[in-house]
Amino acid sequence: MTPARDSSRKQKSAQVKIRKAKPSDKSSVLEISKKIWSGHDYLPQVWDDWLADKNARLTVATVNGKTVGVAHASLQTPYVAWLEGVRVHEQYRGLGIAGKLNKALLEWARRRGARVARLSTGSRNHASRKHLQKIGFPVIQTFQRLDTTRGLRVRPAGVTAARRSAKPLWSWLRQSPNFAENHAMYSDGWTWYPLTLQTLRKLMSQRRVFITSKNRQPSSCCILLDEDRILTMGFLAGEQGDILKFSRMLRFLMHRRKREKVRVLLPSRSPLVRALVCSGFEKTAKILVYEKFLV
Ligand SMILES: CC(C)(COP(=O)(O)OP(=O)(O)OC[C@H]1O[C@@H](n2cnc3c(N)ncnc32)[C@H](O)[C@@H]1OP(=O)(O)O)[C@@H](O)C(=O)NCCC(=O)NCCS
Repeated sequence: MTPARDSSRKQKSAQVKIRKAKPSDKSSVLEISKKIWSGHDYLPQVWDDWLADKNARLTVATVNGKTVGVAHASLQTPYVAWLEGVRVHEQYRGLGIAGKLNKALLEWARRRGARVARLSTGSRNHASRKHLQKIGFPVIQTFQRLDTTRGLRVRPAGVTAARRSAKPLWSWLRQSPNFAENHAMYSDGWTWYPLTLQTLRKLMSQRRVFITSKNRQPSSCCILLDEDRILTMGFLAGEQGDILKFSRMLRFLMHRRKREKVRVLLPSRSPLVRALVCSGFEKTAKILVYEKFLV
């Protein structure tokens, strides 16, 4: 780096200010977003909701009054904050702006009573990984995403929607090694949510929890989400043989509901990854989930 460029970067870096987002930031943020992921960034779709949400925080970074970065945090439970949507203008990258946005969001979450903050990023997003490493945000798990577009016409036997009381299933789930491997979370593809008895009840009432049973006891369990024409298996617990029944069930539902694909998220070291690849799923991405304690 030339001395002139280095001093211009230092000047920019010194002028960074962080504040709560305002409606007038929208055009600058959309301009930044246009150049991210070839224009396929989801931020334009969520900006208005994020700005209006009183239980969340939308923060921007400015340099000489110009909006050059943005990031969002919300509380998933009273104790767990989820951070997302960090974007920095391409001419202002490498100045630690993402770190400053992140710090402001962690302070907001702490003030609101959160004890941990979490976020995710793709394993190929080197700038994001570097920024998180620099600010000391530890990775707690790496998840493998697997997809298939192969539907199935025949409904597999033995899989049912969990309908009875959530408590016995919850007791079984909590002692399952898969629960610990998933850090008590389930996913819709990019966001990881806390899996609690309350969420399990809600998901069961929405018929999003499937089980297999042996001797009237649960022997495996999966959480299914059906959004944006994709069926996502965002949590799995149990024995391999039973779990493969869920993948067939999802392929059947994909065919019946005319969805585009089935997506599964598993801790990347799980032996189930190999089992799913052998049954026709393709590995499509690795996602890192981070967690930082706030107390
Ligand atoms: C990821 C991102 C938010 C990081 O923001 P940032 O303020 O530049 O973060 P940092 O200043 O800490 O730089 C992080 C790393 O980015 C890389 N970087 C540095 N300058 C860069 C530039 N001009 N362009 C691209 N990447 C650059 C470097 O690897 C740097 O690490 P280093 O300083 O140790 O060399 C930003 O790159 C961005 O907006 N990317 C597109 C959106 C995105 O991927 N968001 C994260 C989604 S999970």
